[in-house]
Amino acid sequence: MKSGWVGGKTNSAEATLKSGEHFADFLEKGDVFAFIGELASGKTTFIKGILKGLDYNKSVTSPTFTLVNEYDAKYPIIHIDCYREDELERWIKLGLNDYFSEENIVIIEWADKMKSLLPENTIKVNFSHKSLNSREIILITP
Ligand SMILES: Nc1ncnc2c1ncn2[C@@H]1O[C@H](COP(=O)(O)OP(=O)(O)OP(=O)(O)O)[C@@H](O)[C@H]1O
Ligand SMILES: [Mg+2]
Repeated sequence: MKSGWVGGKTNSAEATLKSGEHFADFLEKGDVFAFIGELASGKTTFIKGILKGLDYNKSVTSPTFTLVNEYDAKYPIIHIDCYREDELERWIKLGLNDYFSEENIVIIEWADKMKSLLPENTIKVNFSHKSLNSREIILITP
């Protein structure tokens, strides 16, 4: 990831989307992001913004049931959601490690559920549900 992205609070769903769109400018191939934060803290909305920022105009949904969504955007984006699957063995069998490549950008919702499977250089982004209309999105630098 390129340096210089500054997170902060968003005051509407639209602002969370915009923040993701801006975040897209800082992505680099090979990045792996762990999105960590409680239910409804804005993770999927932010990812929708990222894809918008990468000129991807098709629909983006949370891969809650499919487990993994692959988007052919400006870069290949791999969107993973661990919420319903915290059985680590299943992720390994699914070929999780093949997604971690220099060609892809991998973004994982509820990544704390698969902490031990993540590459060492994984970049953490923390999402907090502050109030009805406020979410805080911050980068956790290692
Ligand atoms: N700053 C904000 N203010 C108000 N609503 C917001 C804000 N940011 C996002 N939202 C809304 O919050 C709801 C939940 O957002 P989202 O689905 O992105 O959360 P999530 O972290 O992916 O949740 P989950 O853990 O269930 O996957 C959505 O309806 C979204 O539009
Ligand atoms: Mg989500």
